[in-house]
Amino acid sequence: MAVTQAHIRSGLEKLPRFKLSHLDTPLEPLDRLRQALIDEGVSVPNRLLVKRDDTTGLAFGGNKGRHFEFEIAHILEGGYDTVININHYHSNQARFVAAGCAKAGLKYHIVSTDMVTAPLTGNLLLCKLMGAEIHRVPAEYGRQTTEKIFAQVTGEGGKPYILPDDPFVDIMGMIGFLEAGLEFEEQFVDDKVEGPVRFWGLTGRSIAGLRLYAKNRGLDWRATAVQYSPGKVADFHKITAARAAQVVDMFDLEIGLDDSDIDVLEDYRGPAYGVPDDGTIEAILMVGKAEGLILDPNYTGKSMSGLIGELRAGRIDPHETICFIHSGGLPQLFAHADRFAD
Ligand SMILES: Cc1ncc(COP(=O)(O)O)c(C=O)c1O
Repeated sequence: MAVTQAHIRSGLEKLPRFKLSHLDTPLEPLDRLRQALIDEGVSVPNRLLVKRDDTTGLAFGGNKGRHFEFEIAHILEGGYDTVININHYHSNQARFVAAGCAKAGLKYHIVSTDMVTAPLTGNLLLCKLMGAEIHRVPAEYGRQTTEKIFAQVTGEGGKPYILPDDPFVDIMGMIGFLEAGLEFEEQFVDDKVEGPVRFWGLTGRSIAGLRLYAKNRGLDWRATAVQYSPGKVADFHKITAARAAQVVDMFDLEIGLDDSDIDVLEDYRGPAYGVPDDGTIEAILMVGKAEGLILDPNYTGKSMSGLIGELRAGRIDPHETICFIHSGGLPQLFAHADRFAD
């Protein structure tokens, strides 16, 4: 017997919540992109949709707008007054923490641990505009810098929270996308989306949350995740299954996730995290021209490159509705402007 929507909703209602996002986000057709591919001779399923999670609002939006409603509330509930985060130059998560902290009146330190001499633009610039104190140090000094800030804040009578040290951070994304599952179910009814659906997105918590929702609701929703950085697929499945098991426990669900739940594509991740390949650049230009829809080079461009690549290779079941998750990430586009120069 499938878990009911009411059961999932009541689990969500029990968690503290701090409003950050404009929800529901739109579900839109990608008809002109579909036609552009058909014009190339590619066979494309009848429905190609995009979930516009780039429109969650706060701080230029993104999938993390859903995640951090739970995380910021969790921090406030713990009585902390300062958040310390460690992340990459390109990190969208760092931006969402900045936005959440600003809105909740928390102090925020971001220890930014790579590309330390790269220009202050994109997400880091936005962090600064939202009041973050930015510490740019090479990765080997990241932990040491974090401990120093922690000691200083504590010494001044504050209560600091080191974000990457809290296991809740590992599951709040899946929780945010359990809720997105409820939203999708309603939108699919309204838009008469019938038959199997394939969610298309990034490797991580969001798509796993949707698959977990579908499995427990008994829905024929499948998931393909495109890697955005090198990493062993087996490790991804292991981590995802462990996170899902925690969410199953927390929400009293029936089934968790295993290796067969999410198809992971490795061929579109480019040479490294934050480095787009030519396929990514082509996908961004193609979607921009066909739909007026902007993607980013670190995440959604790679994911779209995967979708276009798999469609062109004829590896997608034409009977599935494809639902591309636009997870945001747009501010970082500007850090890659040189890739579009000619
Ligand atoms: C724009 C964007 N899309 C997708 C992801 C992957 O999201 P998740 O692991 O939460 O599913 C991230 C993660 O940093 C991101 O910034």
